[in-house]
Amino acid sequence: MTPERLEISRPDDWHLHLRDGDALTSVVAHTARRFARAIVMPNLKPPVTTVAQAEDYRRRILAALPADTSFQPLMTLYLTEDTLVEEIARAKESDSVFAVKYYPAGATTNSQSGVRELSRVYPVLEAMERHDVPLLLHGEVTDPDIDIFDRERVFIERHLMPLRERFSGLRLVLEHITTADAVEFVSQAPANLAATITAHHLLLNRNAIFEGGINPHHYCLPILKRERHRIALVKAATSGSGHFFLGTDSAPHVRSAKEASCGCAGIYTAHAAIELYAEAFEQAGRLDRLEAFASFHGPDFYRLPRNEDRITLERKAWTVPDDYPLAGSTCKPLRAGESVAWSLLETAAS
Ligand code: DOR
Ligand code: ZN
Repeated sequence: MTPERLEISRPDDWHLHLRDGDALTSVVAHTARRFARAIVMPNLKPPVTTVAQAEDYRRRILAALPADTSFQPLMTLYLTEDTLVEEIARAKESDSVFAVKYYPAGATTNSQSGVRELSRVYPVLEAMERHDVPLLLHGEVTDPDIDIFDRERVFIERHLMPLRERFSGLRLVLEHITTADAVEFVSQAPANLAATITAHHLLLNRNAIFEGGINPHHYCLPILKRERHRIALVKAATSGSGHFFLGTDSAPHVRSAKEASCGCAGIYTAHAAIELYAEAFEQAGRLDRLEAFASFHGPDFYRLPRNEDRITLERKAWTVPDDYPLAGSTCKPLRAGESVAWSLLETAAS
C-alpha cells in the first residue's frame, strides 16, 4: 500500500540549469525550496570557463535566493579546447567548484564553445584525474549521420569506452542518461562512473513529443526514447545501486523560444521536481528506494556529507499552473494545467 506521507533526507539536484540575470531570479526559489544543493550547469552565454567566473556566478545565485533558505549552489566549469591545465588546480583549491562539464560542440543549448576533438583536452583530463575532479558528460555524438535516437549509444561506444580506458582513475558522471545501453554500461562499471537520471526521462517516452500534435515542451536533449529505454531507466533508478542518482536537468526557456519554428531543447521541472520523482518511484512500487536515489548516492559519489534535515512529501494531488514567470516572459512547466500526485509539505529551512 502507498503511504500517505513520505519523509526523506533533504535531496540534492546533481544536474540543474539556473540561467542568469532575471531568469535566474525567476526560477531559483523552486529548486531552493526542495533541494539542499545543486550542481549548476555552466552553459551560460558566454560559458563559465574559469574558477573566477564560477565564483562570480555563485555570488549572483546566492543574491537571487529567497531569504529563508540555506540552499548551496555547487559550481562547475565548462570545458573548452582552451581550458588551461592550471585552471584544474585552481578548481581543486576552490571551495565552490565541484566538477567540469564536457559538452560536445553543437550537442545542445549553448554548447558552441564545447569540445570538437576529445584528444585536444587530454592534458586537462589528466590534470582532472590527478586532482580527482569529476568530469560530467553530455553523452551524445553530434555527427549528423547518426540518428538522433542513437546518439547516446554511439557516444558510449566511440568516446566513453576509450575515455574509460585512458583515464581509468577519472571520476565520471554520464549525465541525464536515456537508454538501456547507458544503464547497462554504467551498472557494470567501477564505482568511479555514475549517471544522473531526470524525472522526465523516468515518466515519459518519445510518444510524449507527438501526442495530439507536436509538443515542443517535451523536446529535450538527449531526446526522449522509446518505452523499453524508459523502463530500463526506472529499473536503474529504483535498483538501489549507488551508480544512479537524481539530476533534474530542469532547463527553463521562455515560451517563445520553445514554441518557435526551431525551438530550444529543455524541459522545466524545478517547480515539482522531487514530487515527480516520487510519482515515478510510486509507479514502480519502490517508494522505499527514493531516498537513496535522491539524497544518498549523489553526495556519496561527490564525497560530500549527506544532508541532515528532512522533507516530507504528502500523497495529495495539486494542479500545476499553466505558466511560471521567466525573465519578463513566461515558461511552460512540465504538467502545465495537469496534476502531480505528490505535494511537498512546507518545512522550516535547515
Ligand atoms: O534539453 C536540454 N536543455 N538539454 C541540455 O543538454 C541543455 C539544456 C538547456 O540548457 O536548455
Ligand atoms: Zn543539462
